[in-house]
Amino acid sequence: MPSVFIKTFGCQMNERDSEAVAAQLVAKGYALAASEHVADVVLLNTCSVRDMAEQKALAKMTHIAGLARKSGREPILGFMGCMAQSRGKQLVEALPDVDLVLGTQKFHRAAEYLDELLAGRRDKIVDTDAEAGSQAAIREHLLTGNDKKAISAFVSIMQGCNQHCTFCIVPFTRGAERSRTIEDVVGECRELVSRGVREITLLGQIVTSYGKRDYPVKDGRSAFVQLLEAVHEIEGLERIRFTSPHPKGYGDDLVEAYRRLPKLVESAHLPVQSGSDRLLKLMHRGYTRERFLSIIEKLRQVQPGMGLSTDIIVGFPGETEADYEETVSLCREVEFDQAYLFKYSPRRDTPAAAMPDQLPEEVIEERHRKLLVIINDLAARKYEAMVGQTVQILAEGPSHRNAARYEGRTRSNKIVIFDGSERHRGQLMDLRIERAGSFTLYGDPAVVGME
Ligand code: 5AD
Repeated sequence: MPSVFIKTFGCQMNERDSEAVAAQLVAKGYALAASEHVADVVLLNTCSVRDMAEQKALAKMTHIAGLARKSGREPILGFMGCMAQSRGKQLVEALPDVDLVLGTQKFHRAAEYLDELLAGRRDKIVDTDAEAGSQAAIREHLLTGNDKKAISAFVSIMQGCNQHCTFCIVPFTRGAERSRTIEDVVGECRELVSRGVREITLLGQIVTSYGKRDYPVKDGRSAFVQLLEAVHEIEGLERIRFTSPHPKGYGDDLVEAYRRLPKLVESAHLPVQSGSDRLLKLMHRGYTRERFLSIIEKLRQVQPGMGLSTDIIVGFPGETEADYEETVSLCREVEFDQAYLFKYSPRRDTPAAAMPDQLPEEVIEERHRKLLVIINDLAARKYEAMVGQTVQILAEGPSHRNAARYEGRTRSNKIVIFDGSERHRGQLMDLRIERAGSFTLYGDPAVVGME
């Protein structure tokens, strides 16, 4: 029985793809290996969004191949996902130990290709072709976080992106937008709920573009909101999340959905990228600072406790001190609960990589360092402000920070650690927040009330 180890780089979409490949292989009789050092098959699921993510995956593979050679082992080595897609056969040329390169439309073929490689019928396989319908081909779930049943699951609703932001490689790695049908997505969600899942996160590169070409607007509701309504109907499902939306796609129908659909939790990840209109235009984002702020205001009107997170790029080509200060002031104005900060990284074939005024690394580093302090400080205050409040959490399992304790998340997407046990798994609980740590809250078990 061959064993497989999968290491994932990058976003939640990648995590989901890895889980689906693992589930597919387990169904074919593979065992999940404890580490890359003992596995018969090692797969790296890669990210291309910044150069650093690619370099990490390349270094990891070189390291694994070197160790395997030294110990006389010959595991099957493969790259899959975004870098596999964008670099293709270059990868086997550069790293001769690599046997498999599996593109972003080919995850469902992993088992078939590994069979051929393990049986020695083929020596190397590189498949990065487009495949019609591949957006619906990934549906298997493992559902075994910490060897126990998972309470929260990701469901991929679409693939690809048509936005072509000038900094972004994703349209090249994930292809054009393709959506699954509402029935297909709902069917998968229903099955998950029947297996004990209580929270579902709908995933896509730009979920607000879901089904645009397939489902016309109905009663003022976009295809994505129609999908949310259909998932909301599922009995036994407690919470719905989604990521990532595009600010441009935040119509009033979606804002209203937070009021109408109680299972849709008050949490949104809204990537702003910059606070400067000039840069937003150069980035090809399709909204202004003012429009972004008005969406935030509307969301807070509907749900005052809305948890808000964002992505920000510092050091985009031509970013002046004044542009940077606009981003800082936007952060102060919005007070995000969490902001993911990225240093601009030129990506091949993107328009921004060819723009004039690429900034020196020191400038990018310095702005990144300063903004990180500001963002963390703002977030810390948000977390502090929750001390003393009683909040509902969904208990998910042993804490990732301390396995002796338990953790769950608030509806606004904050992690809460408390003294819990397996009997709490999957429970909605009210906890009083006693203390705030770095991006973590601590709830008091003495005042646990079960719903
Ligand atoms: N450089 C830096 N950050 C990037 N992102 C996307 N492309 C780049 C790039 N070339 C960031 C964006 C996006 C997040 C997933 O990664 O902020 O929202």
